[in-house]
Amino acid sequence: NTYVLIMAGGVGSRFWPKSRNSFPKQFIDILGSGKSLLQLTYQRFLKVCAAENIYILTNEIYTDIIELQIGAQAKKNIIAEPCRRNTAPCIAYATFKIASLNPNANIIIAPSDHLILNEEVFISSLTEALYFATHHDALITLGITPTRPDTGYGYIKFESSGTKIYKVTEFLEKPSLDKATAFLKSGDYVWNAGIFIWNVKSILTAIEKHATQLFSIFNQADVYNTESETKFISDNYPLSNDISIDYAIMEKADNVYTITGDFGWSDLGTWASLHDVMEKDIDSNTFNGKASLLKDTQNCIIQLPSNKIAVVKGLSNFIVVDDGDVLLIYPKPLEQEIKKVSNSVVEQF
Ligand code: GDD
Ligand code: MG
Repeated sequence: NTYVLIMAGGVGSRFWPKSRNSFPKQFIDILGSGKSLLQLTYQRFLKVCAAENIYILTNEIYTDIIELQIGAQAKKNIIAEPCRRNTAPCIAYATFKIASLNPNANIIIAPSDHLILNEEVFISSLTEALYFATHHDALITLGITPTRPDTGYGYIKFESSGTKIYKVTEFLEKPSLDKATAFLKSGDYVWNAGIFIWNVKSILTAIEKHATQLFSIFNQADVYNTESETKFISDNYPLSNDISIDYAIMEKADNVYTITGDFGWSDLGTWASLHDVMEKDIDSNTFNGKASLLKDTQNCIIQLPSNKIAVVKGLSNFIVVDDGDVLLIYPKPLEQEIKKVSNSVVEQF
């Protein structure tokens, strides 16, 4: 009864220039493990349900990469979008499709680009959440104890109770730095991991209530899993509002729950978050490339092609990435700007 929808259609622009529109970060072996983040995610969920119940939601331009990375058998489980509309529309489309296969399904929604170090704890949290979702009209999200006032996350306030699954009283997506700092200080908030668990009925009800436009576009039960689906989607998907599930549903719904767990989660959203989980030298530098000679250099992220040597003296807190046609040298504390910078470079050159 469990289905997993892996979202793999983002651009990962904060990881530019390694992550490009033509080959975003979820398809890259960013950890140097020999597997891409998508491959690691897929393998993790094979421990939760059968391959035939794992779907990959992506833009149609990435379907070939996915077949190459996951295998040709994955082809029938790719749900392709004709254009980019953020996560709420792809979730709405995929939910209606799954509902037409199994109206009693439980669904796990997962990003394709996170690191999870402790899979055992992760899977046991999911199992509890799935059990709860089977018996309640609940939108459940995994919560993470925050460690910094990161403005790239959703913040969740919850009511402590005897049970392991808490009722959420406030969900705020990507707050200002002031708010994030206050939330962190208060100790009352957790981060939204962006991993959701619910039953088909609950999420369809929430879409109908809070994302009416999406509900009316995708509520066409007779087209899913038939030969008219592709044409229907190419005609109608582009009409969807461009909005994430966090703004469209999670901030608005009053039946949100969270389960917290220490499963070694990292969003790998930015260069600094990658730096956090990589092996560092005694001066806290991380290096990828052929070899490095670093003097008076601290807390830098240096990523070069495998045939290049880095010689650096007197550099602190910088991101240095040499990738094909782009060389990026950027202060680490300003890394959130990289998203904008990458867009303007793409526009200008
Ligand atoms: N199929 C598809 N289509 N996938 C998409 C699309 C799309 O249009 N846009 C984004 N994705 C995928 C990304 O590849 C990623 O795996 C996932 O959806 C989440 O999108 P992000 O763009 O990475 O979201 P975020 O990191 O800004 O914020 C979300 O994740 C945070 C935790 O990492 C939110 O849920 C936050 O609340 C949360 O804290
Ligand atoms: Mg993300």
